[in-house]
Amino acid sequence: MAPLPISSIRVGQIDDVQELIKSKPNKVPERFIREEYERGVVVSSLKTQHLHHQIPVIDLSKLSKPQNDDFFFEILKLSQACEDWGFFQVINHGIEVEVVEDVEKVAKEFFDMPLEEKKKYPMEPGTVQGYGQAFIFSEDQKLDWCNMFALGVHPPQIRNPKLWPSKPARFSESLEGYSKEIRELCKRLLKYIAISLGLKEERFEEMFGEAVQAVRMNYYPPCSSPDLVLGLSPHSDGSALTVLQQSKNSCVGLQILKDNTWVPVKPLPNALVINIGDTIEVLSNGKYKSVEHRAVTNREKERLTIVTFYAPNYEVKIEPMSELVDDETNPCKYRSYNHGDYSYHYVSNKLQGKKSLDFAKILN
Ligand code: OGA
Ligand code: NI
Repeated sequence: MAPLPISSIRVGQIDDVQELIKSKPNKVPERFIREEYERGVVVSSLKTQHLHHQIPVIDLSKLSKPQNDDFFFEILKLSQACEDWGFFQVINHGIEVEVVEDVEKVAKEFFDMPLEEKKKYPMEPGTVQGYGQAFIFSEDQKLDWCNMFALGVHPPQIRNPKLWPSKPARFSESLEGYSKEIRELCKRLLKYIAISLGLKEERFEEMFGEAVQAVRMNYYPPCSSPDLVLGLSPHSDGSALTVLQQSKNSCVGLQILKDNTWVPVKPLPNALVINIGDTIEVLSNGKYKSVEHRAVTNREKERLTIVTFYAPNYEVKIEPMSELVDDETNPCKYRSYNHGDYSYHYVSNKLQGKKSLDFAKILN
């Protein structure tokens, strides 16, 4: 999430969804109602299981002892997950459950605060940090049934200290602790991803420099007409990797687009959902996919997600890795660009499927 200059974009009235359901629990304002074609076809959970249409699960404990059979089997699974799904869940990731539950608790406390308190940390139009709705660029753009709170975490220069809340009192401490653990997890995952691509283990870390890490907390209140709205518009992530944590006992909300169908991701206890972002798609020359996904809402239940975006430093030049390009059999599909420019491009356009990546595609 590159910083943007404050602009004078006119976004019209953006209702706060938590306030909306307090005052008029059964009303869905027009600006949230999607066209029929946007709502899309969903594979029901039952059919999903039957078709083995579940995103792969990677057991990280099997990757802690390199060079045995389990290790190679899990790396193979990882490689298939990244190629076929662009998504996987990790279990036995080694992050203490207390750390995960704690950040979830402070995030929930944040969203539960009165609106006046949350408004002290506003997400200004055209920016992506603070409390509000991101990616809104016009007065007639449809809104998502979601409240967001987003912060730049690392390196320190991307932080806007004014947006780090003083309440709940433990918010910052908890998020710092959590973010450190998630950063280590991302580094670990990138090593395994490098191995799965036949690259040397440190390849990503060496090229990423001081990696950029940002967090977005998405709070989806219940909606009386979940079929009419979207929790979060379809998009791919601009990151290299994204780590998504769903609140404990969370209902299904995340859906990913596979074979033109929206497939729900069933939350597993103590698992984290990982997805490949646009940056790894480019670096792997399209072998690993940054898959389009969205969030839907539930009639009765709220849902909270804590999402970390991990990406190269803004100064880094991105292009398909030479080891993964072959002029004869696998020609280069993306041009080279500066990652900061891509981040700027990503955050200054509305979420629209995989459209952002047109920025990098070489069109024949
Ligand atoms: C995101 C995202 C999905 C969810 O924040 O980029 O895809 O279920 N979130 O909150
Ligand atoms: Ni996403």
